[in-house]
Amino acid sequence: MDVKTNNQQEVLIDKFNRIVDYVRISVTDRCDFRCVYCMDDEMQFVPRAQLLTLEEISKIAQAFTELGVKRIRITGGEPLIRRNVIQLFEDIGQLPGLDELVLTTNGSQLTKLAQPLKDAGVKRINISLDSLDAEKFKNITRVGELDKVIAGIDAAIAVGFEKIKLNTVILKNRNHDEVIDLVRYASDQGMDISFIEEMPLGVIGDHDRAEVFYSSDEIKNDLEKAFTLVPTTETTGGPSKYYKLTETGTRVGFISPHSHNFCELCNRVRLTCEGRLLLCLGQEHSVDLRKTLRSYPGDMEKLKQAIRDSMLIKPKGHDFNLTEKPIIFRHMNVTGG
Ligand code: GTP
Ligand code: 5AD
Ligand code: SF4
Repeated sequence: MDVKTNNQQEVLIDKFNRIVDYVRISVTDRCDFRCVYCMDDEMQFVPRAQLLTLEEISKIAQAFTELGVKRIRITGGEPLIRRNVIQLFEDIGQLPGLDELVLTTNGSQLTKLAQPLKDAGVKRINISLDSLDAEKFKNITRVGELDKVIAGIDAAIAVGFEKIKLNTVILKNRNHDEVIDLVRYASDQGMDISFIEEMPLGVIGDHDRAEVFYSSDEIKNDLEKAFTLVPTTETTGGPSKYYKLTETGTRVGFISPHSHNFCELCNRVRLTCEGRLLLCLGQEHSVDLRKTLRSYPGDMEKLKQAIRDSMLIKPKGHDFNLTEKPIIFRHMNVTGG
């Protein structure tokens, strides 16, 4: 479905009357980390021939902006390990009609890429950071080096992005005792922080999700021992519920797909690295845009029509349940959160 507004800018609207103006694009399913909640130890990655090329991703981004999309987030896997990815940021950064090009990264490549990203027009970045303790960090990421990520965060601060936000997944008995330290660290560096409840995407052999579940309400209670949290009505169009700390002015967000469902306000769709347009993170409804692109090379109208049609199958919401087997078999690295 689509409508034209007064100034003839087309917008995408689904059958529940939600305007879709935000697309998250996963440019690779590969990553230099193996976070326990995201990937299995031994992962099968998508064969390179099945990945969208950077040119194909740019074309899809262009189609979306012509359909009224205002914000694009580049994500992964770890987006910054894809070869020549800066070219993609430069191309998307120049699309007319786009208000914001943003990035989600694990921070491992930022010492060398923070400046080129800023130059390409990236405004805000989200950096995943689950622990400030090198050993715990290694345990959660299986292979990640905390020092490298902290250096990456420093580099991002130095180039002066408009906003840097930390994304933290809290797991009981792994890092739940660090919530106050993580918020202090974010405050000291002038960053915001969001705590994310783990979502059951993909089966992960040695990891019991119900056992490590630590709710946003528990985190909030812990933080209230050290800070005063005042609810704000601010939103970035994402699922975070934000509070402001009276002591430091830092914004603390909670992404709580289990304890607070936010699907009725959903404004987003996701493109996987293989060109599948996913209409909901927690459901399998999708459209194969790679097929459209490769069947009708250069035909922008065909691509736009496939996207318009996809609005008819965007589901009402997700249905996550930690105690049953996952119903979604793709891992988070395929869709990028
Ligand atoms: P902005 O997108 O810039 O507003 O940031 P945000 O903090 O609102 O969300 P972000 O894009 O950083 O996403 C953080 C995490 O929230 C993701 O990695 C996902 O784990 C989760 N998330 C984002 N969108 C959705 C969604 O539509 N459904 C669910 N269940 N989780 C989501
Ligand atoms: N549940 C919740 N968050 C997840 N992430 C990765 N896998 C999961 C999951 N199963 C988070 C990462 C990163 C963001 C892109 O998604 O920590 O911050
Ligand atoms: Fe990599 Fe992010 Fe998944 Fe960790 S959560 S393995 S950093 S894609």
